[in-house]
Amino acid sequence: MLIKPASDIAPSNITDKTLYLNRRQFMQGAGALALAASGLHSEAAAAPRLAARRSPLSVAGAANTRDEITGYNNFYEFGTDKADPAANAGRLVTRPWAVQIDGEVLKPRTFDIDELLKLAPLEERIYRLRCVEGWSMVIPWIGYSLSEVLKRVEPTGKAKYVEFTTLRRPEQMIGQRGAVLDWPYVEGLRIDEAMHPLTLVTLGLYGELLPNQNGAPVRIAVPWKYGFKSAKSIVRIRLVEKPPVSSWMRANPSEYGFYSNVNPQVDHPRWSQASERRIGEFFKRKTLMFNGYADQVASMYTGMDLRKYF
Ligand code: MTE
Repeated sequence: MLIKPASDIAPSNITDKTLYLNRRQFMQGAGALALAASGLHSEAAAAPRLAARRSPLSVAGAANTRDEITGYNNFYEFGTDKADPAANAGRLVTRPWAVQIDGEVLKPRTFDIDELLKLAPLEERIYRLRCVEGWSMVIPWIGYSLSEVLKRVEPTGKAKYVEFTTLRRPEQMIGQRGAVLDWPYVEGLRIDEAMHPLTLVTLGLYGELLPNQNGAPVRIAVPWKYGFKSAKSIVRIRLVEKPPVSSWMRANPSEYGFYSNVNPQVDHPRWSQASERRIGEFFKRKTLMFNGYADQVASMYTGMDLRKYF
């Protein structure tokens, strides 16, 4: 698919110093991926770094700080307060971990997390994230397009939608002991959305493996949709013929639709979506259509009434 870059995409030759140093450090090794194999669980050991080149699909401008990105989260499996995931997600065991891919595919397969880390060259994608609640962040994710994974399982002609399922493990996910949502967390995309180059299999941020509160060890990031479409800590990707029913649609169908594209003209029934507060900023910003990714994604929705398909 031919895609136009967003109007404010960073020049691809700009590389921040940390990444540059990492890259130099690790390109000396054999592969593009460099992990300190023994240090994966340990915060105390030198943090394992991921070598990733900056993707031209990144947006320009300053990213939020690591503290903001890892300290203000929605991850209801660990509680509903913004500070709960940072406080409670540490107990989630993220290795071993596997992601099962099945349904309407010719080659169903289970990928181990170590296979996923090596499946395609890792890229740093600096994406906007707009939460349905009215706040936003800019996050330097690390990963690669979900299409890299999907093409390997060979979707059949009946694969019209893709369903993502988060882990269900109430022993370690204390929020799952309550009934805030119908667990496990489920989300979905249309197949063309899932295959769009912007849709990211996310394995890290700020040059490191994903922190647990951000969806370790693997989550999805779909930057033109409200943040809840980007399921964290996923264990299954199922290709299906009918639109999946997401956890949020099940919980409240009049408030959460299947598409959930960021759209400043379509308000949430209980609040306006016209503006947002970037975490760390004082003044509000205007929310952009498709979260600023309209050049790349609007054509997927030509002819659709976006008020009806919200
Ligand atoms: N995935 C799961 N499994 N559970 C959740 O509660 N919250 C969503 C999304 N993915 C959520 C989830 C919402 S509402 C948002 S805004 C983003 O994760 C937040 O991602 P972040 O904490 O990494 O910024």
